[in-house]
This record gives sequence, structure tokens and C-alpha cells, in this order.
Amino acid sequence: MAKKMLEVKQLTTKYITRQGEDVYSVDHVSLDIEEGKSLGIAGESGCGKSTLALSLMGYYFAPLHYVSGEIIIDGHNITGLDPDVVRKTVLGSEVAYIPQAAMNALNPTRKVGKFIEDVMKAHEIKMSKKEVREMAEERFALLGLPADALDKHSVELSGGMRQRVVIAVSTILNPKVLIADEPSSALDVTSQKMVIKMLKNMMEIGLVKSMIFITHELPLLYNVTDDIMVMYAGQIVERGTAHEMVFDPVHPYSRGLMRSILVPEEGTRDVKLTAIPGTPPNLKHPPQGCRFAERCRYATANCRYQAMPIVEFGEGRTYRCNMSVEDLKEVYAREDNE
Ligand SMILES: Nc1ncnc2c1ncn2[C@@H]1O[C@H](COP(=O)(O)OP(=O)(O)OP(=O)(O)O)[C@@H](O)[C@H]1O
Ligand SMILES: [Mg+2]
Repeated sequence: MAKKMLEVKQLTTKYITRQGEDVYSVDHVSLDIEEGKSLGIAGESGCGKSTLALSLMGYYFAPLHYVSGEIIIDGHNITGLDPDVVRKTVLGSEVAYIPQAAMNALNPTRKVGKFIEDVMKAHEIKMSKKEVREMAEERFALLGLPADALDKHSVELSGGMRQRVVIAVSTILNPKVLIADEPSSALDVTSQKMVIKMLKNMMEIGLVKSMIFITHELPLLYNVTDDIMVMYAGQIVERGTAHEMVFDPVHPYSRGLMRSILVPEEGTRDVKLTAIPGTPPNLKHPPQGCRFAERCRYATANCRYQAMPIVEFGEGRTYRCNMSVEDLKEVYAREDNE
């Protein structure tokens, strides 16, 4: 069996607002990724994707707080480590993060090469300036960046180049898990595709051992990741292979989300575009039962009060609902025939 690069068990984290209220944005999330594999995370704005990304690094600072659960990277449990230890031994090398607004993440007053030097210093890596420069130039070349970009300020570079600089800086220590949060949404389509190709290439040549892609753009995930997980109101509602999730989603929310996808490769598919009516619940006061019940057309009174089971079926597939797969498929088939 392939080696697990990331294992997350029942991770719960919360924000504490200035008013002292708890916001449970990541609620009992479990997931794993094998070496060489990529996982996409999809879900509406505010469902907790970025908070999950931050939480997975095991590095918490107010207003985000760890509550419970475990994070294991390549067999090494990083839960509960001292933040200083996490900064020196986990961030960048075990798990690296490309933030959502990556191209604006660079301090404009510093030269690009300095960011790489900073990473080396933070990790107390003993390398001469010349060695660091050579390593940086090599990584830049891999990402299609000229070596002299290292001597420029980020403002002198185009948006696409800045994005690639952030990728170079984030991955310079060859992380075991790379999390790319909306890696390309601010770029034009050609640059988006290029960024994704580069990230995948880094995994193929073994510089990055596994990857998580977070995006709203589901068609993008379909072509990019091995598996897809759908998140709703801080919880995972379904996981499967990218193909299963696009063509055979089981959870009513995944189905709603996936139905708006157009997959050009499968042009013959009859796609019904349907927005899901309603809005997600307030995470300060999440409902007692199923969090999607308010918006679910199949919900019964029970769904509003009962905790939803996480059902495993098929290989590595899970969904969170109290209806059986058979019953769900039956209602879907009926609807498709209407
Ligand atoms: N600093 C904060 N304090 C309190 N609540 C917060 C804070 N930051 C985010 N939240 C809440 O946590 C929830 C999850 O936010 P998060 O940014 O993780 O969502 P997201 O899925 O990444 O959204 P998007 O797709 O817009 O990037 C939201 O309901 C948000 O209001
Ligand atoms: Mg986000």
C-alpha cells in the first residue's frame, strides 16, 4: 500500500471573535493523502476551506485556535507541538502553503531573492549565500522564471510571475504536503493552466510529495486532482475520486454543486444547471442536526435534530447523510427522468 503523506483525524479548530464567540469553521475533519496523490477541496465561499488549510499546518495564532484532533505528516504527529518548533521544523518543509492571494503576499520593499534567504534562515539551514542563490536559480528556472528576477522587487514583476515567485518560495524546502489555496483564480486562463501544470510537474518529479488544491472552480479540479472532497459549513460532506465526484455525487449538496459544472471532455453529458437555493448556516450557531438540512430538498424533520453519520461505501468513498446510497440514487434517477 502506498505511504500516507498526510493523515488528519477529527480535526476541529475555531475562531474566537472579539466578542468572545466561538466560530467552528473546521469541525471534525478527517482526511488522508497518499504519496504522489492530490486532493481537491471544493465548497462555497465561507465553508472553511482556507481555515482548514491553515489548521492543517498545526500553527495556530489568535483568533484561530486548535480544539481537538490529530495531524500526522509522513508518520510524524505534529499535533500540539510548540509553535516555535512548528515554525522551524514543520512549516515549509513538512507542509507548505500557497496563500489565496499569493501574488500580493510578497513584501514590495524587499528583493525577491531575500524571501528565499529568509526561508533558509528561519529553518536554520546551513548553506552559503552562493549555494542558496544556485538553488534559488534552479527552482526559478523550473518555474520558468529568469534568474535576474531574484534581484528585482516583486512590484517589478507581472502578476503571473509574482505568483510563481510565491510558489518557488513556498516549495523551496521540498514539502511533503503542499497546499495551494485558490492557486490561480486571480490569473487569466492561460496563466492559470500554466500554474497548475507547474505544480503538478513539481509533484511528478518528486519535489513535492503530495498536494491539496483548494478552489471554487470545479472543472479545474476535475482535470487536476486525483480525489475531490466537498466541504459544507466546516464539515466534509463527501469524498471520492474526481471522476466519481463529478459524475456520480451522492450527497445532495455535492450533487447541487457538481451539477453546475460543464466538463468539455464529456460534451455529450446533459448538464442541468441548478443553483442551490438558500444560504449556509451561521457557524456561530450551527444547527444541531445536518448542517445542510435547511437547504436540502430531501430533508425530513429528523435531519434537523440527528447528528449525521459518515457513511463509507466503495473504495475510499464517504458521505455524510442519513439516507442510504440506494435511496439517494433512486430519487436522483427519478428526478433525471422528470
Ligand atoms: N478571523 C476570523 N474570525 C471569525 N470568523 C472568521 C475569521 N476568519 C474567517 N472566519 C469565518 O470562518 C468561516 C470560514 O472562512 P474561510 O475563510 O475558511 O472560508 P473559505 O471556504 O476559504 O471561503 P472563500 O472561498 O471565500 O475563500 C467563515 O464563516 C468566516 O466568516
Ligand atoms: Mg478561502
